[in-house]
Amino acid sequence: MTIVAPSLLSADFLNLKSDLERFNASNAQWLHYDVMDGNFVPNISFGPQILKQVNSVTDKFIDVHIMVDNPLEAVDYFDGCKVDMLTFHYEAVEDYEQAKEVITKIHQKGVKASISVKPQTPVEVLRPLLNEVDMVLIMSVEPGFGGQKFMHEVLSKCDWLNQYRQQHDLAYLIQIDGGINSVTGEEAVKHHCDCLVAGSYCFNNPKGFSYAVDSLLSLKND
Ligand code: DX5
Ligand code: ZN
Repeated sequence: MTIVAPSLLSADFLNLKSDLERFNASNAQWLHYDVMDGNFVPNISFGPQILKQVNSVTDKFIDVHIMVDNPLEAVDYFDGCKVDMLTFHYEAVEDYEQAKEVITKIHQKGVKASISVKPQTPVEVLRPLLNEVDMVLIMSVEPGFGGQKFMHEVLSKCDWLNQYRQQHDLAYLIQIDGGINSVTGEEAVKHHCDCLVAGSYCFNNPKGFSYAVDSLLSLKND
């Protein structure tokens, strides 16, 4: 079954509590939490202090996506927060050794570890890391902002990841993030994505938050 992860970046921060209530009341399984440092991406969002407060009002799976230059240090910033999955960027580490260090550090905290590639980064670069991660996040927009247009050309990366995990008997999830709605979500699911991140489609949907979530949950891959 598809996992739906509404992205908090698109919430109304003047009404955050009621937006989190809409999220809790929906069938969405995960909450996607985008952390931006103003260096790795040209935007600044929120960090561990706000996550602690979010943690106090939801029991759902917390999926943290760090878009920061220093993942090795940044994973420690979340000590004391409830985090279930932590995704960092391949482009933010110096080499494979450092990427493995980040993955090990995340796992030592009892958190699932995931790695992401930006749209211009070929997915094959992740090959040496794929037997160590719990998930791979394929960015379908340039990271930094919600509400951008889905880049269809990244879907072949999802096919490659699916083929690789079958061939090597691996179990990592495939997540896609950026520009997801019921149309692009359907394409993503057909291309073997297990988890759909959706910000503006969920939080700004004229038919309601739950309608948006359910429309993504019902997508089939056949
Ligand atoms: C972008 C973030 C996304 C963003 C998605 O850098 O990683 O999670 O919130 O927003 P939508 O679904 O509106 O493209
Ligand atoms: Zn994200």
